Amino acid sequence: MAKKFYVTTPIYYTNDIPHIGHAYTTIVADVVSRWNKLLGSDVFFLTGTDDHGKKIADTAKKAGKKPKEFVDGLIPKFKDAWKSLNIDYDQFIRTTDKDHEKVVQEILKKVYENGDIYLGEYEGFYCTGCEAYYTEKDLVNGCCPIHKKPAEIIKEQTYFFKLSKYQKKLLDFYKKNKNFISPEYRKSEIINRVKEDLRDLSISRTNFDWGIPLPFDKKHVCYVWFDALFNYYSATRRKDKEKYWPADVHFIGKDIIWFHTVYWPAFLMSAGIELPKQVFAHGWWTFNKEKISKSVGKVINIDELISLTGNPDSVRYFLMRGASFGEDGDFSEFALIERHNNELANKLGNLISRVEGLIEKNGMQKCDNKLVNELNVEEIKDLMEKFEIDKALGEIFRFIDRCNEYVQEKKPWETKDKKVLYELADSIKKIAILLWPFIPASCERIAEDFGGFKFELKELGKSLNSKTEIKKREVLFNKIETEEEEFKEEKSKERAEEKKKDNKINKSNEPKIKMVGEGLGSVDFSEWDKIDLRVAKIEKVESIEGADKLWKLSLDVGELGKRTICAGLKQYYSDKELKGKKIIYFSNLKPRLMKGVESQGMLLAASTSDHSKVVLISPEKDIENGVRIG
Ligand code: MSP
Repeated sequence: MAKKFYVTTPIYYTNDIPHIGHAYTTIVADVVSRWNKLLGSDVFFLTGTDDHGKKIADTAKKAGKKPKEFVDGLIPKFKDAWKSLNIDYDQFIRTTDKDHEKVVQEILKKVYENGDIYLGEYEGFYCTGCEAYYTEKDLVNGCCPIHKKPAEIIKEQTYFFKLSKYQKKLLDFYKKNKNFISPEYRKSEIINRVKEDLRDLSISRTNFDWGIPLPFDKKHVCYVWFDALFNYYSATRRKDKEKYWPADVHFIGKDIIWFHTVYWPAFLMSAGIELPKQVFAHGWWTFNKEKISKSVGKVINIDELISLTGNPDSVRYFLMRGASFGEDGDFSEFALIERHNNELANKLGNLISRVEGLIEKNGMQKCDNKLVNELNVEEIKDLMEKFEIDKALGEIFRFIDRCNEYVQEKKPWETKDKKVLYELADSIKKIAILLWPFIPASCERIAEDFGGFKFELKELGKSLNSKTEIKKREVLFNKIETEEEEFKEEKSKERAEEKKKDNKINKSNEPKIKMVGEGLGSVDFSEWDKIDLRVAKIEKVESIEGADKLWKLSLDVGELGKRTICAGLKQYYSDKELKGKKIIYFSNLKPRLMKGVESQGMLLAASTSDHSKVVLISPEKDIENGVRIG
């Protein structure tokens, strides 16, 4: 019998249309679901919406609508968005579904009868944006740490859940189930907070009625998180779905990890229900380095996102490749287009159209495919099992690079070697199977071109039928015209200006101050005010594939946050010498892409009088990061 695999997304608040942040978790869950289908598992993939709570009641009121009418109006937006991104979920649950409400009421009754719910009075802080209770200590200057708005003070009669009773049980559970809180680096913060203080939790509200009534006191509606978390379980109380519980993995964003790794297991323990196996919290996407939120006008919705390249697979690919899974990432239109052009169109798309064209002309001849020995399927499987999704994609693309090199090495356009062409076609089949979870529509098109094959890992063992008729078809990924030309122009102007300056200074043979790094923009020193120079600390130093002079530097720029720059310092400084150093950073230059890395500015350095060495201008250690100079 096939192994079952149950994967979920958070259920999204229906107070607005979905955006890139929601798309991210949903694509991750879809990729992981499809990957497990490839492995032959019996997969259940759940997504849906969180329809209740004060936040939604308030938004509906502002829109002059009844809450149910308001949320119903948003459901098609979510379903259409997921359809346009090719999300193949098995069930879409809503907390307003009658059978879900019934399950929540049954559980509340059970937990109440167990003695884990008691009546009391809550007086304290609440953030409606998070739908969360806060203590004074959690707030920053009286404001919610996430929404940065003043938390509301509420005082009301409420039912409490005896969360404190579960402190030891939770700690024991984390100890025994090492992967429950993932990634590993998010674990200790949760464990320390649980150890420090676990107070009973208010789980009912009385000052609005948009929620599930408590079965033992109808004046109260259930706290929205108690209601919402149980969606994962109630979805499996439906016909033929019982076998899927417990969930194998809940994918969530890092902001809701506490609810999922503390409240959720405690509720389940109290209700006597088996616990899910893993909660995996990913990082947040910013948009051009700014928080994505409606209040700052930086919400990027799904239609806009797809329209940037016209291809949903590019969005899926970018989001899966553009950030190390678990950590934060930054979205920019430029970075999306760069990856679409360089990786999907140039690497994958070109390989396919070249091989198709050559086979159409010359045919192919079956042989033992030696090229495919360089495809490390076990490594990819291992990475996917650990949810190192970006790295698994990187490994597949390493093989695509290898295939492109092979074309160059073997020159089949000259040799007309039918065996080489067979090796390439058979390798493309394997690439398409492995890439299908990530870019399904493109891989389905490749399968059509290459005679049709099943998207199963077992299929990797079967070689391509050499009788398959292969013809050159239209390109898979159209390259997008960017401002590249504009960039080149700007860059050459900038170089010309730098040269002029260099010449002047060189003549006097003075040591010169120079800007090292990549970031578009030349600096006219007569306009000093416009230059934003900051003190920054080098936190991480990494090599860049294919660049022997550049270091990729991760900077901490205090109030400006984290920045990345590519700097040509490799011949002057080792990584160890740079790490931890304070530098002066030009923060307001237009970013530019270097070897696939977005460089967000430059740093200040000086060259020695004989121009043989570049030396960093380094501020004293005790100057704080982010301090502006000038
Ligand atoms: N309704 C709750 C979840 C209940 S699950 C039982 C909720 N909804 S939400 O709509 O506000 O957010 C859903 C998810 O979107 C969260 O996991 C959150 O982390 C994620 N994201 C929202 N903005 C995001 C980014 N900018 N980047 C990445 N993910 C982010 O919370």
